[in-house]
Amino acid sequence: MRDSEIQTLLAELFPDQAAVCFSTGQPSESNLLPEELAHTKKMVGVRRLEFAQGRACARAALESLGLPPVAIPTGSNREPLWPESVVGSITHTDGAAAAVVGHGAQFAGLGLDMESAEPLGEDLIELICRPDEEGRKDGKHAKLLFSIKEAIYKCIYPTVRTFVDFQEMKVEVDSGSHRFAAEAHTPACDQALISRLEGKFATVGELVVSSAWLPAG
Ligand SMILES: CC(C)(COP(=O)(O)OP(=O)(O)OC[C@H]1O[C@@H](n2cnc3c(N)ncnc32)[C@H](O)[C@@H]1OP(=O)(O)O)[C@@H](O)C(=O)NCCC(=O)NCCS
Repeated sequence: MRDSEIQTLLAELFPDQAAVCFSTGQPSESNLLPEELAHTKKMVGVRRLEFAQGRACARAALESLGLPPVAIPTGSNREPLWPESVVGSITHTDGAAAAVVGHGAQFAGLGLDMESAEPLGEDLIELICRPDEEGRKDGKHAKLLFSIKEAIYKCIYPTVRTFVDFQEMKVEVDSGSHRFAAEAHTPACDQALISRLEGKFATVGELVVSSAWLPAG
């Protein structure tokens, strides 16, 4: 599948107002801006390239929203620091990267996650899936829950500004509509917030991809 085709499929996981970029293009550190380069100093080579690829996607997504392609530094909890009045999310896996961005007037948060479609290893299933979730019985479903929960975390982080463990979020998947419902099991995260969250998932080639968004207001 071509990058442009995958990008179209990823864009369908979000409302039209969000802009998405997907790339398997060769990342280059020379694309990083000074504020970002400082953050990459302690990274090993592969991680630095992955970071650069994610930043390149983020800038391309900003441009398709009509915004200047500015530096996106990193916050204290590894979160990307978007320009004022912009929200977004970055993901990378197996040589591919993607980013989604949107205007703060429309979204309080956006989350995007991509994982290889390989089933989650048995050793990880209990860490990721709650006893009351379907994923406990099936590594493939567990991988989907893993991806959805990471998309949720990236989406809600700018609002909750605290770590939320995989066991603290229950996810129920509707395989007909390719949507999910989430339930917070932590005082760090108000269920009223999670009830407003929406999201979708899909298998795109060899990847499991998940989206999450919080409407503004
Ligand atoms: C942060 C986390 C979600 C990243 O997922 P991952 O599978 O390791 O990697 P991905 O490539 O999909 O995403 C990495 C990107 O996530 C973004 N990210 C990292 N921390 C973030 C945070 N606190 N908030 C929002 N986005 C964050 C970054 O842009 C990062 O890429 P970069 O470092 O190159 O900028 C994951 O490592 C993690 O810590 N998960 C635990 C929390 C969680 O998922 N809870 C689920 C219940 S809500």
